[in-house]
Amino acid sequence: MAMLFLFLVFPVVVSSSTSEAQKQNVTNIQFYMHDVVGGSNPTAVRVASRSANVTGLESSDPIAAMFGSTFVMDNPLTVTPDPNSTLIGRAQGIYAMASQKDEFSLLMTLTYGFTTGQYNGSSFSVIGRNPVMRKVREMPIVGGTGIFRFARGYCSAQTHSTSGMDAVIGYNVTILMH
Ligand SMILES: *[C@@H]1O[C@H](CO)[C@@H](O)[C@H](O)[C@H]1NC(C)=O
Ligand SMILES: *[C@@H]1O[C@H](CO)[C@@H](O)[C@H](O)[C@H]1NC(C)=O
Ligand SMILES: *[C@@H]1O[C@H](CO)[C@@H](O)[C@H](O)[C@H]1NC(C)=O
Ligand SMILES: *[C@@H]1O[C@H](CO)[C@@H](O)[C@H](O)[C@H]1NC(C)=O
Ligand SMILES: *[C@@H]1O[C@H](CO)[C@@H](O)[C@H](O)[C@H]1NC(C)=O
Repeated sequence: MAMLFLFLVFPVVVSSSTSEAQKQNVTNIQFYMHDVVGGSNPTAVRVASRSANVTGLESSDPIAAMFGSTFVMDNPLTVTPDPNSTLIGRAQGIYAMASQKDEFSLLMTLTYGFTTGQYNGSSFSVIGRNPVMRKVREMPIVGGTGIFRFARGYCSAQTHSTSGMDAVIGYNVTILMH
């Protein structure tokens, strides 16, 4: 009975995994995101916080003080860490400090839209947890538009450099195309 079951199931499993493999079309994209919080031309602005005087809370517990802080961003994406290198698109959306203790962690809700090259006019969306103090953060890609329709995948983000509150973040993106 068990043998019969195996014989019946085996060919089905093989054919479905083969067609699954044929459908796999993986694209890797690398770029750098520029998060400018300071200065007169910020690309990320805080629009809400738990207290008007966050500075007053920070000394006792910086994570608790930042809990609830919400930012809207429109960050340029470039091909190298140099902010003056070729602009390929922008990451737009909302992120919020969603941890009360233990470690800084953001909830990211962002759309990465491309304005040049083969991805021009296409975008993918990220929703996920970003523990910003960790070396590498992985976030899921939950869908996209244009060439990225039906896409799923993940991105690794790594802080390349910081200057005050500003940061340059390296991204390696792996997308399974439709
Ligand atoms: C992978 O997907 C892209 C975008 O849909 C398409 O242009 C390309 O031809 C696909 N490649 C393969 C090998 O299917
Ligand atoms: C914020 O809180 C700190 C510490 O409690 C205090 O020194 C400072 O005056 C406060 N600032 C404002 C604008 O209320
Ligand atoms: C980028 O270009 C601007 C304008 O040319 C210049 O002021 C700035 O120093 C450059 N930044 C870098 C990091 O090279
Ligand atoms: C990107 O697409 C837009 C809209 O279709 C077009 O106007 C623009 O010229 C394109 N840019 C590049 C660099 O291809
Ligand atoms: C991206 O990939 C490159 C080359 O494989 C690697 O050196 C780099 O550390 C990776 N960056 C991230 C953020 O994963």
